[in-house]
Amino acid sequence: MRLVTYAAPAKIILSGEHAVVYGKPALLLGIGYHCAVTVSAAKRLDAPLPPHEQIVLDVVRNALKKEKHPLSSEPVSLSVENAIPIGRGLGSSAAFSAAAVGALLHWYTGKEPSKDRINSLAYIAEKHFHGNPSGADNTASCYGGLIYYRKEFEFLKTISALNAKLPAVFENRLLLIDTGRPEESTAKMVQSVAQRYNSDPQGSDRLLSKIEKCTKRLVVSVVTEDAELFGKCIQENQEHLQALGVVSKAASAMLTQLAGYGVGKVTGAGGKASGGGYLLFYCTDRAATEAYLRSHSLPFLPVVQDIHGVHCRQSV
Ligand code: PMV
Repeated sequence: MRLVTYAAPAKIILSGEHAVVYGKPALLLGIGYHCAVTVSAAKRLDAPLPPHEQIVLDVVRNALKKEKHPLSSEPVSLSVENAIPIGRGLGSSAAFSAAAVGALLHWYTGKEPSKDRINSLAYIAEKHFHGNPSGADNTASCYGGLIYYRKEFEFLKTISALNAKLPAVFENRLLLIDTGRPEESTAKMVQSVAQRYNSDPQGSDRLLSKIEKCTKRLVVSVVTEDAELFGKCIQENQEHLQALGVVSKAASAMLTQLAGYGVGKVTGAGGKASGGGYLLFYCTDRAATEAYLRSHSLPFLPVVQDIHGVHCRQSV
């Protein structure tokens, strides 16, 4: 039986979430938790595809049809193995889109598609899922590593792979701490920032510009391996996200509780009513922070960077 499997990584946003929806830059990192999608021929008794899978299938088939690529009408089945926590700011949906697009393109064309090709179709799928995404998540998932991303217009996106690796001095001190699944979807959080923007455009613009500065300084801190500046930017970024209204009580309470151990920020869309997703936490002393988190039964994950992005796991 023919099988094609593609895997794509989760991502974290080091700086620039929400601002990136308004044309500001964001700095992202692919991380080593993956979603893998396998395409095979459907058996006669297989149920119809779940809605998300059907959407990606339609996106890929439509793109190939437009190019007049011969398309088999044989039904396909998709199986998904996901190790990325869902709905907590780690880009599980973008990783699914990237892996599913990669596997389906390979299935229909018989060749490994380029990352650029996967990324542009994964972005279309993400628009179906989230309304008005910036495209940052799918880009980080497709390319992996450190990505500086900016969307000026639909037709003009700057994607710079900074440098393949986040220096160990940062990677070793970063943890992801779970503050619970937000009640709001990413689309809802993007909408709530839009409401804030509409009711106070000038104030919001000032805030977005501060986030932009923060993102740029963070890039400098990474390139120069300036640990102090890195920590400052993380903390400032969190203050701006708080002012933007995307930090839930659970997330800010957690940061207050952990104040003696380092600084942290929301990563991803954040939340309002209950959980705030994962916090990106920059520890002063990693072993002491982990011991504290364990002794208080606070769930956390290490940040292990992924420099590969979306890739073919098998094609047999
Ligand atoms: O919640 P996540 O991890 O999917 O991140 C969304 C990031 C936003 O900037 C809030 C939205 C976007 O489309 O970039």
